Amino acid sequence: MFSLELLPRITRAQSMDVLSSQSNLAGYRAVIDSIFEFEKAVPMMMTAAGTVPAAKILVIGAGVAGLQAIATAKRLGAIVSATDVRAASKEQVESLGGKFLTVEKTEDMETSGGYAKEVSADYKKKQAEMMQEALKKNDIVICTALIPGKPAPKILTEQLVKLMKPGSIIYDLAAEQGGNSAHSEPGKINIVNGIKIIGVKSLMNRLPSTASSLYAKNLFSFVRNLYSREKKDFDINFEDEIINQTLIKEK
Ligand code: NAI
Repeated sequence: MFSLELLPRITRAQSMDVLSSQSNLAGYRAVIDSIFEFEKAVPMMMTAAGTVPAAKILVIGAGVAGLQAIATAKRLGAIVSATDVRAASKEQVESLGGKFLTVEKTEDMETSGGYAKEVSADYKKKQAEMMQEALKKNDIVICTALIPGKPAPKILTEQLVKLMKPGSIIYDLAAEQGGNSAHSEPGKINIVNGIKIIGVKSLMNRLPSTASSLYAKNLFSFVRNLYSREKKDFDINFEDEIINQTLIKEK
């Protein structure tokens, strides 16, 4: 028995990485769905009747889903910023044309596996201070922050949500793991002070063909690694890092 969410995040395992393939699609779809709910235009438009300003989109959590959300929002003409607890994500956000919002004077919170650690109370306070200014300026916030094996970090408190302008959108991709935002419930759109808080549920059902096709390719790559072409049979090498780490072992 193998569990693919235990796959190491190494280069050789990328083609088998279900979390990556599905998160990529989720990041893309998050932007499309939030723009659908947003009642204004996104790109800057100069028309004879006046100029429409570009919408501002903030992405919280710049992992696989967050980076794809940044890329999609940029393509649609939004002004994009993002934040993450991992120092390495700054360069990745900037390489996609996003502005990185740093939470000052804090240590890097990346584990050796590339995931985020839970943040301290001091970090939370500093992050909330940074968010206060960012939320006043942004029209759409896309939340993607997760910590493996733990409930999603609560980042947008009720007080922070209220700072957004009426008509703004909070799209919470972490809703099924407990949510990054106050008022977020899976499968529901809650409206608070004119702000729509969208709690995502089963997002891949909105992209079934692409999601299934990538998932099938992930599984095929995984099974191929268990097989020997020479022997024309399964040949499972338990020393292989990918096999060893995904195998469910008896304790
Ligand atoms: P994830 O889905 O577990 O978390 C999403 C993002 O939320 C992460 O970037 C995390 O740092 C961030 N986050 C957590 N708590 C936060 C907080 N309180 N405030 C702000 N942000 C917070 O992560 P995902 O997308 O699965 O990526 C994990 C790592 O794996 C990344 O470093 C990614 O680059 C890496 N990776 C490497 C691959 C490889 O083959 N080399 C393939 C795929 C991912």
